[in-house]
Amino acid sequence: MKKVILIVLAAGLSLGVGPAFATTQAEDIAALKAYFAERWPNIKDEDMVNGAYSLSEDKRINWESMRDFPPYEDHLAIGEEIWNTPFKNGNTWASCFGDDPSTIRNRFPHWNARDKKVETLEGNIIQCQKANGEEPFKAKKGKIAYFSAWLASQANGQTINVVVPQDDPDAVAAYEAGRQFFYAKRGQLNLSCADCHVYQSGLYARGNLLSPARGHTTHFPVWRGKWARSGGDGFGTLHRRYGGCNSQVRAKSFKAHGEEYSNLEYFHASMSNGLTIEAPDYRE
Ligand code: HEC
Repeated sequence: MKKVILIVLAAGLSLGVGPAFATTQAEDIAALKAYFAERWPNIKDEDMVNGAYSLSEDKRINWESMRDFPPYEDHLAIGEEIWNTPFKNGNTWASCFGDDPSTIRNRFPHWNARDKKVETLEGNIIQCQKANGEEPFKAKKGKIAYFSAWLASQANGQTINVVVPQDDPDAVAAYEAGRQFFYAKRGQLNLSCADCHVYQSGLYARGNLLSPARGHTTHFPVWRGKWARSGGDGFGTLHRRYGGCNSQVRAKSFKAHGEEYSNLEYFHASMSNGLTIEAPDYRE
């Protein structure tokens, strides 16, 4: 097994993905696409949205049967109800996000040039609640995930196009910080996001088939069997997943919608540019 991983790592390096190589967002996306195209010649780029289920026929069959009767329909209905419920001050969500719910998901993550920071959908949901004197949702699960999932479902089929304005050095620096986070080794296991989701994608880590990073952000929030079994209702946001993947290597996790994970999302979501939103989804 070790040998396989080493060979794969070497292949990764020769194909030129990683922080030492490409510089701009466009180059990073092209390099990652080329890497996966060479690594998985039989998997179409658009199938990358299906994560590990694009890599294993057996897993795909199970997943398709789960999707026939999605366990999250009721949560989506709650999400819609949240959208239709005005705040106590009489304002609605439209006061923050505009009237058309189908135009919201795909605006995030984005660079806010005035405040010089990356904004995420869930971060702005919380900001909108605070601005209207409402008690904010918890950051990673529960209502924030139902609401974000419903908003994402309204945007299904839209093409992801995260923009990093190349003429704004602060935006480029935030993207670069996200990229560094993604490729940095961390935790007691000394593994980077890229180790598991680029170089070792398609291999098994403790019984889990590792998904490719391209397509990762297309279907969040997700309903996970594991999160349901751990006493919750199964739903979680992307930053909940980041926290889980950091803890998995016994590394520190960061605050949801804080600077580190928002910058990471800016880079990570960029790596799905050109793919379509397909959310929410089931994961095991
Ligand atoms: C030790 C290996 C490991 C590392 C390191 C790791 N992950 Fe994961 N990650 C997993 C496993 C296992 C899963 C579940 C199987 C899968 O979908 O890949 C997963 C799942 C995910 C998913 C969900 C994929 C989907 O299809 O819904 C995302 C997103 C993700 N990881 C992001 C990250 C990010 C970002 C980092 C770095 C902060 C990271 N991971 C680091 C092992 C890892």
